[in-house]
Amino acid sequence: MENSAAIPTVPGLPLLGNLFQFRSHRLALQRRLAESDVAWFRMGPIPVLMLSSPELVHAALVDQVDAFVKSRGLSHFGRPLLGDGLLTSEGEVHKRNRKLLAPAFQHKRIANYAEVMAADTERALAAWSDGATLDVAEEMMKLTLTIVGRTLFDADVTAESRVVSQALTDAMEYMIDSVSSLVSFPYKWPTPRNRKMQRAIRALDEIVYRIIRERRAENVDKGDVLSMLLLARDEDDGAGLSDPQVRDEVMTLILAGHETTANALAWTWHLLAQHPEAYDRVQAETDRVLAGRTPRMEDLPNLPYTLSVLKEAMRLYPPAYLMGREATRDVQLGPHLLKKGTIVMINIFGLHHHAAYFTDPERFDPDRFAPAAEKQLAKGAYMPFGAGPRICIGNHFAMMEGHLILATLAQRVRFVADAPAAIEPEPLVTLRPRGGVPLRVILRRRQQRSTLAA
Ligand code: HEM
Repeated sequence: MENSAAIPTVPGLPLLGNLFQFRSHRLALQRRLAESDVAWFRMGPIPVLMLSSPELVHAALVDQVDAFVKSRGLSHFGRPLLGDGLLTSEGEVHKRNRKLLAPAFQHKRIANYAEVMAADTERALAAWSDGATLDVAEEMMKLTLTIVGRTLFDADVTAESRVVSQALTDAMEYMIDSVSSLVSFPYKWPTPRNRKMQRAIRALDEIVYRIIRERRAENVDKGDVLSMLLLARDEDDGAGLSDPQVRDEVMTLILAGHETTANALAWTWHLLAQHPEAYDRVQAETDRVLAGRTPRMEDLPNLPYTLSVLKEAMRLYPPAYLMGREATRDVQLGPHLLKKGTIVMINIFGLHHHAAYFTDPERFDPDRFAPAAEKQLAKGAYMPFGAGPRICIGNHFAMMEGHLILATLAQRVRFVADAPAAIEPEPLVTLRPRGGVPLRVILRRRQQRSTLAA
């Protein structure tokens, strides 16, 4: 048994530690830290333990989950935005609300969303003109926001997509800036950074409270997530959730439920545009299976290559590339004894790019996820949705949505990059493509479709 002091430390500056690298070269730091299964680095005076092996990550997220809470990054600085919603809450509140919301994300239930997802995708497509250059990242953000609004809350938020998108960017910059600053002032203080965050939250609150108000006024059970939240009653005292409690869950689901999936899709289109042979294979598959019609849930098992492309894009660019925890007691992780209060980070990006787990890890190779090959992958090395009891509640929703959007669009559109473009990842709370993904739209004619399928 080894004390955590025996773990290697990445060298840093005397006072700042690795803060500068964390702020400005976070992914490079994550790669470097991944050279060791576990390694210390410092964010200013705070030591942080980075876990980069599937075994240690499993120990923290599954075996010893009771010894950890979310670290102060997201749960403290994200609190003004997400409140006590599912992503940030702990203990009994989290347990109760996860149980309450789980049925909305079960396979049977999300199958009903497939039709809305495909229809919204076709509506987005109808607005694009042949030859136009689009920021595909922005288009995916609008589309996934529309879908999450319609499926979970029966609300149309398309018109507000710009407001949501700007507010969300501001809020994520605030969170990541605060986590990686030496000093941060209390949220109520009117500093420029706080004021920007407060404005972002006011804009989002207006939208979310409007959705809640309208549904309370309608007073009907639509069987969706919003009705589930409004009708929920405490088993002991029969009390319902207050508007601010409902707001926290709705805000969390709107934000967690569209930003990540949109990034996954934006990176997928970028990779397909850079790898025409993979794009050809997706189109050949969708043409053969769908022959031009809108995909349905039942078609998805027959579109395995399309799914492999999405999975491989999420390996190279995991939208949630880093997660934080804090030990609430002394805890044994593999051979290491961690002290209560230790901040731990889970190196999702580092795992996904590790040569020990993925051969030639920088190569875009969807065939890694072909059904037989996927079974051979190192267990626990691929974890875009996290693991354990706090695994993403929306993982099946997101995979079905991404799969349907890819299939719907690929058979109708060829997105082309006018020049080979290296798009830099921008690691905010999620991994965004910096500057967006500008691609030209080439609409496909029926005749082109049948040639590829032949
Ligand atoms: C590609 C898309 C997505 C990715 C990569 C992703 C990733 C993740 C990850 C890694 C976590 C765990 C965070 C942690 O343990 O600290 C998480 C949690 C969560 N995700 Fe997702 N997510 C995606 C889509 C969605 C969707 C579509 C929804 C809802 C509609 C959603 C809602 C949530 C919620 C509510 C949590 C918190 C769960 C809990 O703590 O009980 N996510 N997500």
